[in-house]
Amino acid sequence: MTDVRTGPAGGEHETPRPPVSAEQEAREEELLQRVVRSFGQCRDPRLKQVMVSLVEHLHAFLREVRPTEEEWAAAIAFLTEAGHITDDRRQEFVLLSDTLGASMQTIAINNQACGDATEATVFGPFFVEGSPRIPIGGDMSFGATGEPCWVEGTVTGSDGAPLAGARIEVWEADEEGLYDVQYDDGRTAARAHLFTDRQGRYSFWGITPTPYPIPHDGPVGRMLQAVGRSPYRASHLHFMVMADGHRRLVTHVFVRGDQLLDRDSVFGVKESLVKDFEQQAPGTATPDGRRIGGTWSKVRFDIVLAPADA
Ligand code: BEZ
Ligand code: FE
Repeated sequence: MTDVRTGPAGGEHETPRPPVSAEQEAREEELLQRVVRSFGQCRDPRLKQVMVSLVEHLHAFLREVRPTEEEWAAAIAFLTEAGHITDDRRQEFVLLSDTLGASMQTIAINNQACGDATEATVFGPFFVEGSPRIPIGGDMSFGATGEPCWVEGTVTGSDGAPLAGARIEVWEADEEGLYDVQYDDGRTAARAHLFTDRQGRYSFWGITPTPYPIPHDGPVGRMLQAVGRSPYRASHLHFMVMADGHRRLVTHVFVRGDQLLDRDSVFGVKESLVKDFEQQAPGTATPDGRRIGGTWSKVRFDIVLAPADA
């Protein structure tokens, strides 16, 4: 038998490929080429490019990993289970994309660095259209539990000009680690939208973010457990910011000092998004005169939007 593919395929974590005879190699290659040719009549060039590349990478993966038929059936069963657990409130495929870093890679590709424009991060599965509107300085917690947090900042273009009337959507988990869509009673809490003022300023009361696990009672959770990874996300508050003529920004603000910053289960942390949440002692005067009996925190998050054509 002639070994035509031995030794590491490249990359420090890859295992050596098992030896494969020239005859076997030829059969595997012939099949791949036949599948590639099957897309030859596709009229849509982008679709053709995507399908051919997908097949080439998929076959390269199979030929490198060489799954048993039982292993391949287990992979199909995993995807089937992901489909069964998915509905309009639970999106297991988003979780899979997130935990494999595919969401962040797609975000990196589509949000090219542009001057000092604020970096983007994962969208996650918990955004809901139609959040309540709050005024500047309003409270987006709507009774969700947690330490009050005053959030303030500006929205500007990358030329530094303030963006008046920018729409800011914010959403976050309560201190139990639950988003409102995970409550049993259907109420809306810890989500809202507001608009910047003439100077591009915004502020609101939210909740000091705390760490929470992504939903891990399904196949993605089992995958994380099997590979020894935690489902926890670093503490964060979600933002989506939109202004005419500017690229939509989906991002988070993270909490400096959080132990999970280097272990976020969905690879969403960027150093530029980590901010100081300044802890305030009970009785400290608040920016808007609101009376708070216990502790509260405050954070500044200035947001810079890239031009739409960036
Ligand atoms: C979130 O931050 O809401 C989230 C992101 C990715 C997966 C699960 C949750
Ligand atoms: Fe989140």
